[in-house]
Amino acid sequence: MILLLGGEKGGTGKSTVAVNLAVWLAKEGADVVLVDTDLQRTASHFIDRRNQIADLPKVHCSEKHGSVFDTVRDLAKRYEQVIVDAGGRDSEELRTAMVAAQMIYCPLKASQPDIETSMHMNELVKLARGLNPSLEAKLLISMGPTNPVIHEAAEAREILVDLPEFELSPVTIGDRKVYRDSMIEGRGVVEMNNDKAKAEIEALAAEIYGGNR
Ligand SMILES: Nc1ncnc2c1ncn2[C@@H]1O[C@H](COP(=O)(O)OP(=O)(O)O)[C@@H](O)[C@H]1O
Ligand SMILES: [Mg+2]
Repeated sequence: MILLLGGEKGGTGKSTVAVNLAVWLAKEGADVVLVDTDLQRTASHFIDRRNQIADLPKVHCSEKHGSVFDTVRDLAKRYEQVIVDAGGRDSEELRTAMVAAQMIYCPLKASQPDIETSMHMNELVKLARGLNPSLEAKLLISMGPTNPVIHEAAEAREILVDLPEFELSPVTIGDRKVYRDSMIEGRGVVEMNNDKAKAEIEALAAEIYGGNR
């Protein structure tokens, strides 16, 4: 399966979600490759750090820029699972990956600028579906406030359910330091000591990969 983490805004958690799902898959024994299409190389840097630690489940990594369609489809023949990490802007990488993928997840913060960007992203999904009609598209609230008094995630949900091209994931990824710490360490949160973050990634993985990864 080809899963794309994409969106038109930087800093929404795309790379964080991409690497965490890749680690979850590798831990499950899947043959997984992360395709880093972003010149910022967040995912590649993560894999470099991960590879320095002995005995962790292997996540392969490949970098590709410009039109990524052929590379992504080719990798899908050689690996069981392909996760594409796109940069945070409307780009050739994002558009060609949207045509190659089976599924796109767009992480966003529960804030007004992110919600507005999703409205344009909705148009891009519509365009991509002209070429890739079976593309599944989901919005994912990431970096949700973990303080229960703050209801921004619930408020954002009310607006986001109205974007016609998207479904809204029932999972919320919380704003938790462990996501930053694990990224620096080259580990996924499922390899760290934080049950809440671990449960979030497991819930997301179950939604995406179900019983049959
Ligand atoms: N759920 C989260 N909780 C806390 N920090 C996060 C979370 N997701 C991402 N971050 C941090 O936010 C910054 C941007 O995340 P990143 O995944 O690189 O975003 P993107 O790939 O969309 O640009 C990074 O410093 C990352 O560690
Ligand atoms: Mg990124």
